[in-house]
Amino acid sequence: MQVLACLNGETMPVEQARVPVWDRGFLFGDAVYEVCRIYAGRCWLEDAHFARLRRSLAELEFPPVDIDRLIDRVHQTIAASGVGEGTVYMQITRGVAPRSHAYPDPPVEPTELIVVRPYDDSATARLRESGARLLSHPDLRWKRCDIKTTNLLGNCIATEAARRAGCDEAVLIDTDGYVTESTHTSLLWVRGGRIEGTPEGPEILPGTTRQLVLRLIEPLEIPFAETKVTLDELTAADEVILVGTTTEVVPVVRVDDRRIGAGSPGPVAGRLWEAYRRAVEGWLAGRPSVA
Ligand SMILES: Cc1ncc(COP(=O)(O)O)c(C=O)c1O
Repeated sequence: MQVLACLNGETMPVEQARVPVWDRGFLFGDAVYEVCRIYAGRCWLEDAHFARLRRSLAELEFPPVDIDRLIDRVHQTIAASGVGEGTVYMQITRGVAPRSHAYPDPPVEPTELIVVRPYDDSATARLRESGARLLSHPDLRWKRCDIKTTNLLGNCIATEAARRAGCDEAVLIDTDGYVTESTHTSLLWVRGGRIEGTPEGPEILPGTTRQLVLRLIEPLEIPFAETKVTLDELTAADEVILVGTTTEVVPVVRVDDRRIGAGSPGPVAGRLWEAYRRAVEGWLAGRPSVA
């Protein structure tokens, strides 16, 4: 099993993959990406991830990208890597051209990178037991967070602040004092038995896991609503829950110096985690599923 890259269709150990310095992904962060979880060698929620990738490419007016070919390459790279439990990272940049802010005219061939690597869930599994601690941090990101670009400096700054504060994630707060999401996970909270999340829009990434959660809670008869909350309102919620591709479902027990609920993982997070696991197991067993 090895960490494999597939760069513009050529497969190699990741250490050998090289991109020219004129690549617009390197110069401007002019690139979009996706990360999928691999379970038992298969790509989970593939349709949702490629739908979001297509949308990101369209929103940024990228030149045409052959997504069907990309999907084939992803499958081939996973098979060649021998990775069972892992992730696949895909990045498309606007290509290689001498540095100039305007898009290359005529357009150049986009750069396409796939990296498949093993994923060790043990640290996240421990967080599922103990619950995560969050640090609140200003949301310094740009105004199109619905596009999954590699411009992640605002996310990196907040993640680093969380790490230095001994926390597991940061919850981002916009200039009006409202919670948006976390640095690499969607944020949900529970009030009076109802799951809530920030309205979809330019302020947050449309999370594939959040969309899955909405399908999972229907048969559980747990209602959902899009709402906006301040940090004070968030910390007064019964539960706070992180969801995302590698995080899956993780309960939050503390935000800054405030305890969430009883300060231990809550029942709704437990039910969600159970439903999530069942969905993955059903999908792996070939049973009809919400995925
Ligand atoms: C800012 C942000 N929000 C939410 C998510 C969760 O999205 P998904 O469930 O598709 O992994 C991510 C994932 O990378 C993210 O970076």
